[in-house]
Amino acid sequence: MSETRSSFTPNPEYLVQVSHLKQYFPVSTGFLRTTMLKAVDDVSFDIRKGETLGLVGESGCGKTTVGRTMLHLYEPTAGEIWFDGKKIEGKETLQEFRRRAQMVFQDPYSSLNPRMTVADIVAEPIDVHNLCATKKEREERIRELMSIVGLNTEHATRYAHEFSGGQRQRIGIARALASNPEFIVCDEPVSALDVSIQAQVINMLEDLQSQLGLTYLFIAHDISVVKHISNRIAVMYLGHMMEMAPSNELTHHPLHPYTISLMSAVPVPDPKLSRNQKRIVLEGDVPSPLKMPSGCPFRTRCSRATPECAEACPAMREVAPGHFVACNHI
Ligand SMILES: Nc1ncnc2c1ncn2[C@@H]1O[C@H](COP(=O)(O)OP(=O)(O)OP(=O)(O)O)[C@@H](O)[C@H]1O
Ligand SMILES: [Mg+2]
Repeated sequence: MSETRSSFTPNPEYLVQVSHLKQYFPVSTGFLRTTMLKAVDDVSFDIRKGETLGLVGESGCGKTTVGRTMLHLYEPTAGEIWFDGKKIEGKETLQEFRRRAQMVFQDPYSSLNPRMTVADIVAEPIDVHNLCATKKEREERIRELMSIVGLNTEHATRYAHEFSGGQRQRIGIARALASNPEFIVCDEPVSALDVSIQAQVINMLEDLQSQLGLTYLFIAHDISVVKHISNRIAVMYLGHMMEMAPSNELTHHPLHPYTISLMSAVPVPDPKLSRNQKRIVLEGDVPSPLKMPSGCPFRTRCSRATPECAEACPAMREVAPGHFVACNHI
């Protein structure tokens, strides 16, 4: 773990390592006044080769910003991203990293240009990274990618707006695969889709992972979406990491009061167990990220908060093997 690292040493066990990542956005808060919105504030984690790390938390907690900043779609305010033992910095490492790390976006309606054909969308990374030497090779690769994601290859000349949500997300996935990446940030890839299609797309992503040896950061609002496909789950609240543990451990023995409340909202299929389940409803709203509480960001809604919690933000500590939690009371 990298929480207490000051000078970072890469660990070859991991494909991706994120150390003390910060992403602050300047936002206007009045006439000639700007405030820094701390969308991601000192977040560290690592992902092993072939692993899926689930990243969960309520809307606005910074999940997409973590994904985009990791891929350098936003320049990080602070912190380091290491990929396959190399620090991502400078034009050369970034160009190579952009081929090897891709993103599937949250909303397949706004992330695909409706006036582009499927072939042109899928071929974008091929063209950017000059991956096909001839036109014929490019066309073959487009057809191959379309069939990998279950799209009819005869539809290559159709426009994105002609497709349903599920098919559009398949186009987005084909585009992400086009550069032969090793790592993909899947940003809520099914949350905009009908429930009936969500499982199909998730199963496909799982199959692709094992066929192609991919590593995923899988972002979701809801623990129940990621618990089956993730090896480990990380929980965020207001730009901070609260808890991280193997999926089974996190879902059966959550320790952080915030994770416990999230887990209490997950429906249990067994009616006997469900009767015993007590839903914990958090008091109050999530504070504005422009007016962060001092100390622990969760303390204003936490039943265990004490004056100590207002003093400093608790760091992530390993409380059991591989189980990290940021709370003064655990
Ligand atoms: N480009 C930006 N400029 C200013 N603020 C931003 C920007 N992008 C995100 N934010 C703010 O940063 C915070 C985190 O946003 P982010 O989109 O990362 O959250 P999220 O966890 O992905 O939410 P959701 O579940 O709704 O997708 C929010 O308060 C958001 O308003
Ligand atoms: Mg998001």
